[in-house]
Amino acid sequence: MSDSLDAADRQRFAGSYAHRKSALSHLAYGVSSTPRATQNPVAIAVERGEGAHVVDVDGNRYIDYALGYGPLILGHTPPSVIAAIQDELGRGLRTASVHRGEAELAELIAACVPSAEQTSFVSTGTEAIQLALRVARAATGRVKIIKFRANYHGWADGIHVGNAIGQDGASALGQDPQAAQSVTLLDWGDAGQVEAVLDASFAAVIVEPAAINGGCFEPPAGFLERVRTATQRCGALLIFDEVITGFRLALGGAQERYGVTPDLSVLGKALGAGLPISAVSGSRAAMEILSSGRLMHRGTFNGNPLSVAAAIACLKVLQAERGEIYPRMEGFAAQLCGFLNDEAVRRGVPVRARQAGAAFQIFAANGPVETLRDTAKVDKDKTLVFTGALLRQGVMTLPRGLCYLSSAHSLADIEATEAAIAVAMETMARSTTA
Ligand SMILES: Cc1ncc(COP(=O)(O)O)c(C=O)c1O
Repeated sequence: MSDSLDAADRQRFAGSYAHRKSALSHLAYGVSSTPRATQNPVAIAVERGEGAHVVDVDGNRYIDYALGYGPLILGHTPPSVIAAIQDELGRGLRTASVHRGEAELAELIAACVPSAEQTSFVSTGTEAIQLALRVARAATGRVKIIKFRANYHGWADGIHVGNAIGQDGASALGQDPQAAQSVTLLDWGDAGQVEAVLDASFAAVIVEPAAINGGCFEPPAGFLERVRTATQRCGALLIFDEVITGFRLALGGAQERYGVTPDLSVLGKALGAGLPISAVSGSRAAMEILSSGRLMHRGTFNGNPLSVAAAIACLKVLQAERGEIYPRMEGFAAQLCGFLNDEAVRRGVPVRARQAGAAFQIFAANGPVETLRDTAKVDKDKTLVFTGALLRQGVMTLPRGLCYLSSAHSLADIEATEAAIAVAMETMARSTTA
């Protein structure tokens, strides 16, 4: 939260400032996930969502590219998802019961995602990563894991390391330093490193197939293919973390887009259209340890009927409208990135955007950012200034500049966003010359 007492901001966001002040008295840090507090100039308190828009407690309306940190692929009020949730509510909550929806959803996922012959459900991406790693270790009888720098796989101690370029250690205070000892960090995109390091002592290689968290990088040619071959050679499992890319880069996720099929896929976010649900899916062979019941898979909220109903409704829409939804989202992302980059060059403002399918990353940087390694040059503070300038113009991104498209965004939204970008650029140009 900015401490600068900008009078116009204080007025425009008065309700959000007041909310934050009162929330801090009992809600630790005033938010339920730390990054939400970084929004500039203040963490916006959202009152309601409608389609691709949100309205805050002050009545300000925003075109929303944060989309709940990714899940809201159909926007905030997709009619069939809302109807499915309401219908499910009418039958009681039935938490932790066996019900028909969970098998129906697993079958739908199998129809959409190439690797997904069998599926197990949990509630969050972090849990699903934990489950996938456990499956890999149990299936291979090995412990070591290869992870890539600046890939993010949730916040559990055993994998929450090397989340940014130049920071190879634990990524949060309070982590058990022993927990990630079996993790070897390599550079994402460098298949040669994997080929040199991977041997029959490793249980798995886990990878964000497109490095969205690192700044929206699509995989270099041959990278995923070579990692696939190397894991097969050593009998290690290949795990695609598709928590972001699943159902977003294509109906079948990154594995469909890039034509490389992993042994295990971790799905989350867009799967539930906004309700908490995640999954580990995989080939029959890779999932045998789970499907035989030999590996313990627990969780009170796993496969809860409300989330399952939302996910079934979501996948049915994506399946039925895939030919229209994916090209449109990707086209809009390309239009916005093209506009932003052209404006930035024309005005000499050091802000750029990178696209990966229906996601893009805006950042301020002192120099070109062509590779994941270059993200060390990103100026995080200036990026927050730019996303704050967009917010004042009615465009909400993730504070760190990551943006998602939904099927609910319209051409009018994209054009209004271009106008907002132009004004935000002007502000940046003024602040860099001042
Ligand atoms: C690629 C990836 N994996 C895993 C996770 C963790 O998911 P969750 O926040 O649902 O625990 C995230 C969250 O952003 C993610 O981006």
